[in-house]
Amino acid sequence: MLLEHLASGVSQKSPSKDLLQWDQTLFKDERYFELDYIPEHFSHRESQMRALKIAARPALRGARPINCLCSGPHGTGKTTAVLKLFEEVENYTDAVVPVYVNCQIDTTRFAIFSEVYKKLFTYTPPDSGVSFKRIFKKITKYLIDQEKVLIVALDDINYLFYENTVNKVLYALLRAHEVSAEVKVGVIAISSDLSVEMTKLLDPRVMSVFLPQEIYFPLYTRDELFDILEDRVRHGFYANVVPADVLDTVIDLVEESSDLRVGIDVLRKAGLQAEINARKHITADDITHSFERSRLVHLTYSIRSLRQEERELLKLIAEGADKVKAGDLYKKFNEETHLGYTRFYDIISKLDSIRLINTDFTGRGTRGRTREIRLRYEPEDVLNVLAGTGA
Ligand SMILES: Nc1ncnc2c1ncn2[C@@H]1O[C@H](COP(=O)(O)OP(=O)(O)O)[C@@H](O)[C@H]1O
Ligand SMILES: [Mg+2]
Repeated sequence: MLLEHLASGVSQKSPSKDLLQWDQTLFKDERYFELDYIPEHFSHRESQMRALKIAARPALRGARPINCLCSGPHGTGKTTAVLKLFEEVENYTDAVVPVYVNCQIDTTRFAIFSEVYKKLFTYTPPDSGVSFKRIFKKITKYLIDQEKVLIVALDDINYLFYENTVNKVLYALLRAHEVSAEVKVGVIAISSDLSVEMTKLLDPRVMSVFLPQEIYFPLYTRDELFDILEDRVRHGFYANVVPADVLDTVIDLVEESSDLRVGIDVLRKAGLQAEINARKHITADDITHSFERSRLVHLTYSIRSLRQEERELLKLIAEGADKVKAGDLYKKFNEETHLGYTRFYDIISKLDSIRLINTDFTGRGTRGRTREIRLRYEPEDVLNVLAGTGA
């Protein structure tokens, strides 16, 4: 589609003039509405950025940086803050190597160290035939020989909370200097899961070396949301595409869903919707209509990161009543997949730790405690998203 500027103040006399031509678009630059876009203007997070920089500062002198734990609800700028920090560090020096890991994708110790390896050596270690130990050794040797300091960000670290992966990963990263005092590694953990106090999940021997500085990211106030979204609208759309009262509606929805990402996604979908209808402005109707899909943006992301058998189990849960007993569920799961109880149990723990389900012990039942599993979302929404993501 051609990027053709819409003349503001278009004559309203002829209705056809108020319609978008097929080669016109409302978007000046659609990139501003992509969820992984890193904003140039990152305001209202000054104190968090300052804390992150202070923690990273020792690395610039060749010393070990201070570990951090960034926490706060979804859409409060945690990922963006760390990526901004990394951008600055990389522009400033080659002696510090920042590695960003998305734990939704890299869920094992091997996968995470492969990311580090890839960043240092610019190629991926082979998937099989290489032990973790060898990768680890190559990484530490490189850091010593090249006199580089490593900072690893573990984003959405709650994806490592099951199967004790979090301890294995942190232990390997933070105890690296025991191999040699010259190995300097810092960790920035990022978590949006406020229900779990992460430090309580950690082994004492991991905790004793982690000791993170906690940096909290609160929800944005309404004024801050307005400021942030107005900036996106100004850069992303042509003038007058989003009237002020429509932006207010968007902010209402962001406050309702407590997630800025929903607002950004809604604006993009509403823009596309208005284009489909050949309108030159986004209406409140476009917004509410698009919200139906955007409100599930988290669910969509979480489900996309699941493996096939994890999706199948989630589907069985969603197809059940509002709560199911673990025993009954296992029977169905086993019939469908022929997988055993250990795998079943691991998947249940994973779905719980990424907040898709809630597992609960009840005191009832003749055989003592029965595990009940509840979906945290509407079953219909889960089934729709599963269908939409190819499950
Ligand atoms: N202060 C801000 N200024 C501009 N955009 C922001 C700001 N905070 C967050 N965003 C945007 O909101 C979305 C969510 O931010 P993100 O850093 O992913 O949040 P979190 O990691 O806390 O869930 C991203 O698209 C990001 O660009
Ligand atoms: Mg994030």
